[in-house]
Amino acid sequence: DKGNYRHFMEKEIHEQPEVISHTLARYLDFAQGTVANFDLPFDFAKIERLAISACGTAYLAGLIGKYWLERYARLPVDIDIASEFRYREMPLPENSAALFISQSGETADTLASLRYCRGEGIPIAAIVNVRESTMARESDGIFPTLAGPEIGVASTKAFTCQLSVLAALTLKAARARGTITPDEEKAFVRQLAEAPRYVSQALKLSDGIEKVARELSHVRHVLYLGRDTNYPLALEGALKLKELSYIHAEGYAAGELKHGPIALIDEQMPVIVIAPHDRIFEKTVSNMQEVAARGGRIVLITDEKGAKNATLDTLETIVLPDVPEFVAPIVYALPIQMLAYHTAVLMGTDADQPRNLAKSVTVE
Ligand code: M6R
Repeated sequence: DKGNYRHFMEKEIHEQPEVISHTLARYLDFAQGTVANFDLPFDFAKIERLAISACGTAYLAGLIGKYWLERYARLPVDIDIASEFRYREMPLPENSAALFISQSGETADTLASLRYCRGEGIPIAAIVNVRESTMARESDGIFPTLAGPEIGVASTKAFTCQLSVLAALTLKAARARGTITPDEEKAFVRQLAEAPRYVSQALKLSDGIEKVARELSHVRHVLYLGRDTNYPLALEGALKLKELSYIHAEGYAAGELKHGPIALIDEQMPVIVIAPHDRIFEKTVSNMQEVAARGGRIVLITDEKGAKNATLDTLETIVLPDVPEFVAPIVYALPIQMLAYHTAVLMGTDADQPRNLAKSVTVE
């Protein structure tokens, strides 16, 4: 039932504050300010590497997880698209573990990767939304996302719930590996506790988003840029726009711009830059200057500090609340989902059931 929403996707976008909050509450003890007690099929203190594998949006959640686990828990992570992983014959050292991420728990390539790891004899965990799924059954341990059924083909609430679980797992790993102090853990838990509120604020951004969506509905190509955890978000923004509006979009690490894609920039090219005011904001601003100098039309998705400090002409600046760096990916997922959704609605494509796509890709 879509309730008062035009599409399931719109409904699912709006459910995010609630489902993120449910998911976080399962993995964090807000009263104690600690990560909760839950079982793991391996010991984060003992493993030396973690292999993550998934497809599409779930893969991009995993890519953000890699940045988090490596930065905060000092755990080296290998991440692969499952269709590559399954045939890559990757050596898996004895002290490694594998993590699979899937909304449906049925994606053929992800399942094949899981079975490859099973054959290699390493412990297997899965982040799944469907708890009765094949992947859930075949894993040594599961971390459910509590997103509820996701009907829209484009993944929205499953993605932010996957990020929520990955953030909690990062704290679990950091604690086990002794890379954060109890005070730091408490501070991170407090930051995550605020995530649903920030996400609710992001949902109110409609005006700027509508304006940008109108622009996008007239173009053939769009570029998304970001650095660090905003790089996977740039990829996710491009994926969402492609699948929903059929506009050609590409996501790039902002620093890669001058290694090729800058040749694409002209007055026709909208460039969507995801850049909260973080440690590397200035670097991204200098990439934006390169775009502006070539006439590219910049849409900047940032926070209040970023809007003040990016002295540039933009087509539009979408301003989110200032949020701590650790939780930013969960919040910045919203404007990119909303942008793709509104563009699809304006263009009259089917937001819930885009052409050629299946919700669950159970064949190779
Ligand atoms: O069910 P899964 O999470 O394994 O599905 C993975 C991808 O097929 C999925 O995320 C796909 O990329 C979405 N349509 C993206 O919005």
